[in-house]
Amino acid sequence: MTLARITRQATALLARSYDSLSRPLHPAVAELIGRNVPAVDGPWLEPFNGQRARQDMFRSLVSAVRPVALFESGSYRGASTRFLWQVSGRPVYTAEKNPSFARYVAREFRHVPDIKVLNRDSRDALRILHGGAHIPPSEPFLCYLDAHWNADLPLREEVAFILQKWPLSVIVIDDFKVPDDHDYGFDAYGRTELTVDYLGSSTLGASHVLWPSCPGREETGYRRGCVVLASPKVAATVSDLPELRRIPGLTVTG
Ligand SMILES: C[S@@+](CC[C@H](N)C(=O)[O-])C[C@H]1O[C@@H](n2cnc3c(N)ncnc32)[C@H](O)[C@@H]1O
Repeated sequence: MTLARITRQATALLARSYDSLSRPLHPAVAELIGRNVPAVDGPWLEPFNGQRARQDMFRSLVSAVRPVALFESGSYRGASTRFLWQVSGRPVYTAEKNPSFARYVAREFRHVPDIKVLNRDSRDALRILHGGAHIPPSEPFLCYLDAHWNADLPLREEVAFILQKWPLSVIVIDDFKVPDDHDYGFDAYGRTELTVDYLGSSTLGASHVLWPSCPGREETGYRRGCVVLASPKVAATVSDLPELRRIPGLTVTG
């Protein structure tokens, strides 16, 4: 076995253990790993899991919604954070509960004042943003919810809070089950799958539920599913985008 191969495998092992390892790591070490991991960690370190159609969807959403600011829950190593800021040119608030990932991302974007890293649980971060009037409720707001990694799922509370406090919001949720396209992957925690029934009608309210137009088999990267929720007042601006579609007859039983 060559030295290069041994090094690659050791780095891959380190990358896979990164979340549990990262807590006691000094940010400089975390950064060193972060910079050397792309070769082995592949699409996880590209925006939106390396999904090109998802990236196109976001470009279109940004053009249509013209958000005053964006929010991401779960920064990890900032791949999607960077993309959101680059395509929008607007302030991006990214919430990361793991202190080492938060330090890593804050350091990565230390020269970008428009990217604000909140080392908080995503639900607290949203309350802070609302309480501090950082994002006026009268302005369009685009959110990417991706902080589902553990049994403690913030998703329902994130969605309910955003829809209630920002009536011009559009929310994209990663790792979500696309009910009629099994080529897209999704998250499940025990018996809990990320579905519209899990969110439930009380969380969804009157929001419009939209899905990626790109079939999963044609998507690139890790092909994770997503859902797009549009507040009633902005639904008309996004529902005809070619990257989005409705699923006729879809009902929410939860
Ligand atoms: C799948 S990764 C996010 C990937 C990132 N959005 C991207 O596209 O590159 C999930 C991240 O969410 C963080 N996380 C998990 N639960 C959280 C919570 N309740 N609040 C904030 N961050 C959380 C994890 O530490 C992890 O870094």
